[in-house]
Amino acid sequence: MYSAEEIIDILDIRLSKKRYQHSLNVAEEARKLAGHFDYPDPEKAYITGLLHDICKEIPKDEQLAMVKASDLDVTDVEIETPPLYHAIAGAWYSEQVLHIRDKDMLNAIRYHTVGRAGMSRLEEIIYLADLISADRDYKDVNKMRKISYQSIEKAMLEALRFSVTDVVGKGSMLPKHTIEAYNHYIAIKKKDKERTETK
Ligand SMILES: [Fe+2]
Ligand SMILES: [Fe+2]
Repeated sequence: MYSAEEIIDILDIRLSKKRYQHSLNVAEEARKLAGHFDYPDPEKAYITGLLHDICKEIPKDEQLAMVKASDLDVTDVEIETPPLYHAIAGAWYSEQVLHIRDKDMLNAIRYHTVGRAGMSRLEEIIYLADLISADRDYKDVNKMRKISYQSIEKAMLEALRFSVTDVVGKGSMLPKHTIEAYNHYIAIKKKDKERTETK
């Protein structure tokens, strides 16, 4: 497998300065979240963070070709939504070109845009690190940062609530993975509530 330094060199060639810096920031944030939540392999989180947007700046038709070549449970809605291609393309590229064989890393890249039900801890870490990395400056980013270090499940629900509302607000189609992810974290919240009520 490529070392972090080698991957950083590849990013430097493939990405604009801004996206390159974002990728480094997401990797740092992912390593920090991993440490905070005792995820056993913070270095794996770091490298996955580096890779997550590796295909973001290649032409959309090339991204689509990789999406079509991949066997990663791609839905029709995703095929209709070009901004989502880069996650699937990134997982394909990481596997086929960079020879990354770790399924969990590949899934974390693949689902960093849409989420899914039953995400692994690494998938959650990458999804959230992408939202709260140092370069992010949307209105509620500090609130999101705070919740992310309190509870991954709460942060995922908050992030998905925002994502669903945003997609619907724009009049776009919702990928089924996102709906299933949202329902999944709602179910966790309900279970938590029932547990505290019966105590
Ligand atoms: Fe992305
Ligand atoms: Fe990103």
